Amino acid sequence: MSEQIISVHDKTFELFLTENEIVKRVSEIAAELEAAYASKQPVMIGILNGAYPFLSDLSKQMKTELEISFMKATSYKGTKSSGEVNEILGLNTDIRGRHVLIVEDIVDTGNTLSFIREQLFKHDPLSLKIASCFLKPGIFNKDYPLDWVGFEIADDFVIGYGMDYNGLGRNLQSVYKLK
Ligand code: IMP
Ligand code: MG
Repeated sequence: MSEQIISVHDKTFELFLTENEIVKRVSEIAAELEAAYASKQPVMIGILNGAYPFLSDLSKQMKTELEISFMKATSYKGTKSSGEVNEILGLNTDIRGRHVLIVEDIVDTGNTLSFIREQLFKHDPLSLKIASCFLKPGIFNKDYPLDWVGFEIADDFVIGYGMDYNGLGRNLQSVYKLK
């Protein structure tokens, strides 16, 4: 059983999605990815730090051959997006002519994702798609689609399953929202 209420740093969070709900939804997406990428040998690119549990769970359930790589960008300070995106770790895999799948924990404004997409398009991938575990559709305002979304959520600040509040909370198996 997950705790209903937790405190992290100076804030209180309440249970929002249980581990079981997340596991079930992630399995559905993994099955869809498996079908979409069978025999395509995709390169999954996880956006650090937050995407690590989602990428791990998805990739372990996919039977098709695939590569895994990571990039790192930051835009968040505390509980708000700063608007400015900084690349901290660039791509070190050759993706020219490859099927690329960006794996994100959560898309909020989409600024981080737009930045990552631009970087990747420069290397001429054969296809470039996006899987994000969470999306805040009320905030996301870009003109490209997200190909796979686990959960659409309201404009709440959430932690757990890779997502943090000032560094803490990523290892929680359930997702909690700010009270
Ligand atoms: P965006 O650039 O505004 O789309 O923000 C994307 C990144 O900010 C995500 O990949 C997360 O790392 C972080 N982020 C956005 N919303 C939340 C949240 O509710 N909790 C924790 N991190 C978040
Ligand atoms: Mg992220």
